[in-house]
Amino acid sequence: MKIFKVGVIGTGFIGQVHIETLRRLGNIEVIALADTYNAQETAEKLNVPNCFSDYKEMIDTMDLDAIHICTPNNTHYEIGMYAMDRNVHVVCEKPMCTTIQEAEEMVAKAKEKGLVNGINFHNRFYPMNNHLKNIIKDGDLGDIFSITGNYTQDWLLYNTDYSWRLNSSESGNTRCVADIGSHWMDLAEYVTGQKIVAVNADFSTIHETRKKPKKVVLAFSNDKFSEEDYENIEIDTEDNANVLFKFSDGAKGSAFFSQVIAGKSVDINLQIGGYKQSAEWHSMSCNNLYIGQRDFGTTMVEKGVATVHSDTKNLIAYPFGHAEGFPDAFKQCFTSIYKHIENPEGTYEHATFEDGLHEMKLCQAIFDSNEKQGWVNVE
Ligand SMILES: NC(=O)c1ccc[n+]([C@@H]2O[C@H](COP(=O)([O-])OP(=O)(O)OC[C@H]3O[C@@H](n4cnc5c(N)ncnc54)[C@H](O)[C@@H]3O)[C@@H](O)[C@H]2O)c1
Repeated sequence: MKIFKVGVIGTGFIGQVHIETLRRLGNIEVIALADTYNAQETAEKLNVPNCFSDYKEMIDTMDLDAIHICTPNNTHYEIGMYAMDRNVHVVCEKPMCTTIQEAEEMVAKAKEKGLVNGINFHNRFYPMNNHLKNIIKDGDLGDIFSITGNYTQDWLLYNTDYSWRLNSSESGNTRCVADIGSHWMDLAEYVTGQKIVAVNADFSTIHETRKKPKKVVLAFSNDKFSEEDYENIEIDTEDNANVLFKFSDGAKGSAFFSQVIAGKSVDINLQIGGYKQSAEWHSMSCNNLYIGQRDFGTTMVEKGVATVHSDTKNLIAYPFGHAEGFPDAFKQCFTSIYKHIENPEGTYEHATFEDGLHEMKLCQAIFDSNEKQGWVNVE
């Protein structure tokens, strides 16, 4: 078994999830991490043997097979290009970067260098979403005419909630859409096999001004500060997005993306309408898939090797009745990417830079549509 030497860049919220998850694969050694903040402390806490404040030094000195980019969106491009120029495979968090041009250059660089690339659209890897994809492919739902849902959160509800994501200079010109809408759109396209071809969007921002802590805040940290620890900043990204979609095979749809709906920490819902049956997946009960039948009502299919499509069984790691959730979806996503590195000829389920580029085009089209207040075709 080949053992891969990996470095993780950015060890805030999600970088630490990557490190923990990579260790579960069995064939990965996380030999280094890089972060501009507290790298040493994090390395000691997670028992990672090498740490750097400068990712370039890590890539130049550590002889890595792959890096994982877990930093704010505006840094993904420069880090990815630096690594690929040095022939290191790249696993990048979503959104892939902040502009279509950056994404096109990353796609071209990976091709030129023959490197494996992955975007962590991990929702594809919940077994019941893969099962849904396979039963749709088999025609169980009939032709699909409707694809609707939502992705809602509440962690930015208060005007004292702060993250680098609020600034377009770090997040890209959309925030809520790029941050969580991208997950929903990737999932909707992945399970249905239909691409979004046109969008009509309307944004709103409930706090035009927010209070930014003068101290460092990690994502989802819930830190509380006193009044004098804040400064007022103008917000130039959306809290809410309502989006209508037209899909490539004729389905129509809509979704609501929001980071300010109280009580919704992570709530993803996808509902598919077909001529024979409907299906619904919900992140809050991610091990279940609901199948709607006109003449029998709604039945629930629970994750298990005996209940899922034969092509989905390999995504199930635990016996019937044992829940598999967020970290398990990451594990299956990374397993797919590292299998791809080991065997470049196979076919794999993970999102690639091509998919990341497509998402950047969707985010831009949605941004343009809100500006124009009308339909925009996706490039
Ligand atoms: N797939 C998912 O479900 C998921 C979930 C959360 C975040 N993300 C993505 O992961 C990325 C990071 O998000 P987060 O929530 O972990 O943010 P975070 O703010 O918690 O952590 C970011 C870390 O990057 C470090 N950093 C910033 N610039 C750096 C640089 N140039 N070099 C090295 N380190 C640097 C920061 O110090 C911080 O520790 C974002 O792109 C986000 O969209 C994905």
